[in-house]
Amino acid sequence: MVLLARYVVTPWEVEGDVDYKRLMTEFGIQELDDRLLERIRRQAGGLHPFLSRRIFFAHRDFGRVLDQYDQRDPFFLYTGRAPSGHTHLGHLVPWIFTKWLQDAYGVELWFQFPDDEKFLFKERLTLEDTNRFTEENMLDVIALGFDPKRTHFLIDTRHAGIMYREALRVAKRITFSQVKSSFGLTNEANLGQVFYTAMQAVPAFLPSVLAGKSLPCLIPHAVDQDPHFRLSRDVVGKLGYDKPASIQCRFLPPLEGTSGKMSASADSLATIWTVDDERTVRKKVNKYAFSGGRDTVEDHRRLGGRPEVDVAYQYLTFFEEDDTKLRKIHDDYAAGKILSGELKGILVEKLVGMLGRHQDAREKARNKVDSYLYTP
Ligand code: TRP
Repeated sequence: MVLLARYVVTPWEVEGDVDYKRLMTEFGIQELDDRLLERIRRQAGGLHPFLSRRIFFAHRDFGRVLDQYDQRDPFFLYTGRAPSGHTHLGHLVPWIFTKWLQDAYGVELWFQFPDDEKFLFKERLTLEDTNRFTEENMLDVIALGFDPKRTHFLIDTRHAGIMYREALRVAKRITFSQVKSSFGLTNEANLGQVFYTAMQAVPAFLPSVLAGKSLPCLIPHAVDQDPHFRLSRDVVGKLGYDKPASIQCRFLPPLEGTSGKMSASADSLATIWTVDDERTVRKKVNKYAFSGGRDTVEDHRRLGGRPEVDVAYQYLTFFEEDDTKLRKIHDDYAAGKILSGELKGILVEKLVGMLGRHQDAREKARNKVDSYLYTP
């Protein structure tokens, strides 16, 4: 009997138990293999845990941009955040990694805030809402410590003057039926939704336009964004620029279980926001984090916990950077030495420390925004 995992991964929806192996075949993306990791280790002088733990697990053309880097043709980074609300823990994952790449390779970063996207795709959001969330989300990005001299924010409605011309060049080369089949849009989709992917393509080559020559581009992103770049890679190539390369990560699971991804909807009680205080984080983890512990303490001591399904443990694989500590937590939990409640306590401590530092940096970011916004 063949059991087919049921899941959906599109830029607008992630549901079910994602089979990442199968997703690679479906999307036509390559596994980030040991050879590539070895190359990064040599060039960057080490590996971020997101790489060694395969949280970033797939790519397109990553080897090519590393070749170019070796030939003194450095890539620029491009990533983004569509402002639909506050930032949560899952959003931070690709950004933390992007910051590591910026430092390790000493490269420029272009960061897009497509306020148009969430306005078009979320019935409830006005343009005023998405503008307001852009301001909030920028603070979270700045708080991660990106180098202001090498980081350039693009806000679609604000930078429309330089972006729209380039979006037109993209849009002319993509048909309605391509957009429908790539994103699962129907005839009921509004006009803006059909056009939007052209705007998301722009930062992949705008720096080349501005520089007057083709620059290699590397896009770190969560794997659900791949359909955008699958469509636009060829188009960017046809416009005479390097096809953008990408490196792609898994989703932070929701607290309640290991399928899907942490919900960004404002009414989700189990989402941990970057602005949550200690009490709130503790309450959410204790109440909602799916446990791999056993029914009774006695059973737990005898049989041991199951780290592979325990969400507190899964979160530590994202946020506990120390491999030795993580291994010990894993082994002690699996051996029944640590109880589920204790494991949650370890996670809460980790998150509270991390978020405390983030929130301080976030406050300090308020008067730094101007130095990150792109000005021609
Ligand atoms: N569409 C992304 C989102 O929903 C935002 C985004 C724009 C993005 N450009 C990007 C994400 C490039 C990753 C890489 O959040």
